[in-house]
Amino acid sequence: MLAYGTFAQHSQNTVFPIIPRPASLVPSDEHFQLNKSTAIFVSRQSLQPSADLLKQAISHLGHFAVLSSENKKENVISLETDATEVPEKEGYFLRISQNKVEITGHDEAGVFYGIQSLIQLLYLNQSSSAGLQLPGCAVKDSPRFSYRGLHLDVGRNFFPVSFIRKYIDLLSFYKFNTFHWHLTEDQGWRIEIKKYPELQSVSAFRDETIIGHKKDSPHRFDGKKYGGFYTQQEVKEVVEYARSKYVTIIPEIEMPGHAMAALAAYPNLGCTGGPYKTATFWGVFDDVFCAGNDSTFHFLEDVLSEVLALFPSKYIHIGGDECPKTQWKICPKCQKRMKDEHLKDEHELQSYFIRRMEKYLNSKQREIIGWDEILEGGLSPKATVMSWRGEEGGIAAAQQKHDVIMSPESHLYLDYYQSLNPNEPIAAGGFTPLKKVYDYDPVPGELKPEEYQYIKGIQANIWSEYLYNQAQVEYMVFPRAIAVSETGWSAKTHKNYEDFLKRLRLHKIILRDKKVNFFDRFEELNFSFTTHNDGKVSVHLSSTLPQANIRYTTNGKNPGMNDKVFKNDFFVEKSTIFKAQLFGGTKPYGKVFEQSFDFHKAIGKSLTLKNKPKGNFNPKDPLALVNGITGSLRYNDGQWSGFSGENFEAVIDLGIVQNIQKLGLNILKYHWQRMWEPNVLVFYLSENGKDYKEVYRQKTFPENAVNKVRASVPLTKARFIKIEAENKGIIPKGEYGAGNKAWLMIDEIYVN
Ligand code: ACM
Ligand code: ZN
Repeated sequence: MLAYGTFAQHSQNTVFPIIPRPASLVPSDEHFQLNKSTAIFVSRQSLQPSADLLKQAISHLGHFAVLSSENKKENVISLETDATEVPEKEGYFLRISQNKVEITGHDEAGVFYGIQSLIQLLYLNQSSSAGLQLPGCAVKDSPRFSYRGLHLDVGRNFFPVSFIRKYIDLLSFYKFNTFHWHLTEDQGWRIEIKKYPELQSVSAFRDETIIGHKKDSPHRFDGKKYGGFYTQQEVKEVVEYARSKYVTIIPEIEMPGHAMAALAAYPNLGCTGGPYKTATFWGVFDDVFCAGNDSTFHFLEDVLSEVLALFPSKYIHIGGDECPKTQWKICPKCQKRMKDEHLKDEHELQSYFIRRMEKYLNSKQREIIGWDEILEGGLSPKATVMSWRGEEGGIAAAQQKHDVIMSPESHLYLDYYQSLNPNEPIAAGGFTPLKKVYDYDPVPGELKPEEYQYIKGIQANIWSEYLYNQAQVEYMVFPRAIAVSETGWSAKTHKNYEDFLKRLRLHKIILRDKKVNFFDRFEELNFSFTTHNDGKVSVHLSSTLPQANIRYTTNGKNPGMNDKVFKNDFFVEKSTIFKAQLFGGTKPYGKVFEQSFDFHKAIGKSLTLKNKPKGNFNPKDPLALVNGITGSLRYNDGQWSGFSGENFEAVIDLGIVQNIQKLGLNILKYHWQRMWEPNVLVFYLSENGKDYKEVYRQKTFPENAVNKVRASVPLTKARFIKIEAENKGIIPKGEYGAGNKAWLMIDEIYVN
């Protein structure tokens, strides 16, 4: 018997680039040679589909194997299950030796995962002369989490069944076991419900679609009718297809919010009775299912009864997110319901809604999953919480002994930018590069060890507002989803980004073969800036790319092989356009990196803030506000300082008294991200730091983007500059995030 120690590094030319990284892998000196008489043996009929899949993969790679009902002694790949030998659910044991390849699964899923590991080895060990030689090894493997999910929103953009199959292929190849199919949205209802034909004729379509980002103002539209839905027959086939790959599909039918499309067909289910239209732009809409109207519940029960007949999954996702209470507050039916049911506020009404639907689903032996808003007003008895607005919802749910799936927007929303390159295709927002995704761990430090058991797993979400076609979905999802697969499967102590990258580089071959339009610049330049007290800003560049060399210019030209090699940090001392290019050997890799520095009198000067920037908007460089770099529209670029509900109050000490005639500040106004302009901005100057004189005041900030305030002030001798910007406070009614604290986003103060 082999010992299963730690993951061994291969020493020769053989490679074991399995993703997700197996629990243990011990290489040996043996080799298994695949040839025309290699047989695939299955110990039981139910493993036949997996054997077929393996046979297909082998022939796809230009080789050959025959299926056999006889377990030969030699030249055989045998597939069997043995729950004693492999005690962990979904686990497997893969042994490649001179005579045999053995895959033993705890269960059929385990065998399937063993086959995926074997296929990865087949792909990446093809030597031309010797045919297909598999390196000897013993792999013992099982998952960390029982829930490993990938989601897809088909409401905003609709993707054909052929793509859904490809998506399932890819996710199962990386050992995900759950596909969360987000089937209903404001902008389109995507599943056939026979009892309600207008869900097909009306709700599945919208009149037109917004062009560009929802933040763009004014909204522009394409004037083209758009839509589609999956027939029940198609859904059945997809569910069966997924089952054959050990993927459970969890359907999501959204309630009580994100219901515009359904209301367009059945306006009696809304508080006002309509008329409503399937939404044509992205956002959160006040019109939701009426919670006071019994027809709403009858409708949803009818819908779910058809959904249950199609999806055998134990869990049904009922949404529950982003449901404004605006209409419920003024709807007599909703208000009557609150009175009759002794509900103290509209959150409790939402809780009533979810509980009622949970009761129905429990009566059908199913359980609900909902987004973390289902905590508000009280969690229904058996609900599983999908924590998306951060980890707080998941933590609260686990503390209440409810199951949790972690899918925080901050790390696992793959519709967010993965590169800060300004030429990236339009995306939802943010900045979530591969490493950030990889480094996420779904068990929060705040939990007590006895609460860890409630964290059932991890899921990455892919919202499709800006994913106009399949190629774009693939571009955003891969390789980031592959990083998620490793977090979901491999032990935390077994994860290592460098090691992951080594394997991922090899997987590019597989992804290309599978015709996946993945983002292949995941090793593009990393950069950071540090501001020094002497008024210089240093640029630090790095890359994980092997044989990387970085060349740079400061003359505005794109760097080539003759330009200076970046070795140590570069110090910027004046206004400069800094450009850099990464090369792997002599080959340019990725796009040109460009950063301009706009120098002024306050660079690197002492800065005192009354309130501290918070959360994601607390720059690593404490002098980011005075470093000559302007925060970009990618608000997660590390430049912006964000003040949540609090005012911005800064004092800069220039060290000596000097002439001042220009003051400036940039403010990011993005209401759709809860980022609000201040009520008022005031600049003051002082010679002694005690007696300040107001020199400028501004109250309107019209740009729905970066507002660049540049004020000419009467020439003044001053050493101290004080800036006050008053936070909007609580986001007003009718706006995105109403009732929450507004962010006041500031970057770069200018003094000249
Ligand atoms: C969500 O992103 N609204 C769950
Ligand atoms: Zn109502």
